[in-house]
Amino acid sequence: MQAQIKQRLEQIVNNIGQLPSMPDVAGRVVTMVGDPDVAFNKVSEEISKDQAITTNVLKLCNSAYFSRGKEISSIERAAVTLGLKEVKDIVVVAATKSLLDKEIIGYDLAKGELWKHGLAVAVLAKNIANLKNYKDIADIAFTGGIIHDVGKTVLALYVQSAFKEIVETVEQKQITFQLAEKEIMGFDHQEIGEKILQKWSFPHILRDIVRYHHEPENAPEESKLIVSIVHIANTICLMGGIGIGSDGLYHQLSDEAIKAVGMKDAELENIYANLPDVIDQVSAIQ
Ligand SMILES: [Fe+2]
Ligand SMILES: [Fe+2]
Repeated sequence: MQAQIKQRLEQIVNNIGQLPSMPDVAGRVVTMVGDPDVAFNKVSEEISKDQAITTNVLKLCNSAYFSRGKEISSIERAAVTLGLKEVKDIVVVAATKSLLDKEIIGYDLAKGELWKHGLAVAVLAKNIANLKNYKDIADIAFTGGIIHDVGKTVLALYVQSAFKEIVETVEQKQITFQLAEKEIMGFDHQEIGEKILQKWSFPHILRDIVRYHHEPENAPEESKLIVSIVHIANTICLMGGIGIGSDGLYHQLSDEAIKAVGMKDAELENIYANLPDVIDQVSAIQ
């Protein structure tokens, strides 16, 4: 069975057409907002071309989490009131919801759990970036948080059929679920996620977040900080039981990531203790 699974996954990964897609507008907006000189009206024009996304974006702009108590009635207003980076994050939420807000069978995640996990990691990663004064990358921390586990949507079906072997490997070799996943199936959800982001034409920094969120120490130097922020947010959410599935309860914070972000023990403890606030913030995104 193993050989068949490996072969099938290789086919999927090598045939970009088989990977999940999402509205083109999201890839274009993410790239546009990465350019500091982009004009407000160019971005709002781009969003307005997609009627379905526009409707959802406006709804999210008026959610308790994103709105600043002001009613937002157009994309142009949203860009001025919230700023382009915030609008870009909202577009990503709107564009990825249908892909991530579903049952992820092999990982034992009920409908909505992977979505809530992504949103919680997004909110927490953004909070950490702001706390440590990396405000200019707080929006990237948010986008990266939403999509960091996107590879699970593809791998899930195969994890289901190889589940017994993966768990046996975890027990026999005393390794993490991620390592066993890679050993049995030839791929892990990080690699598949990276391929999905390539298909979506997402920028390199986001691909690095998806690829290295479980091993920030191996991230390229230029993206180590942002990868570390998302790694810490993801690990703390998992330790707090947000998005725990078949990959178990054992999740370790990377010392190198803690150092890269400059997190103090007291700050980490404080974040963990305040996870219920993150859940409240997630509930305010709808
Ligand atoms: Fe992950
Ligand atoms: Fe995760």
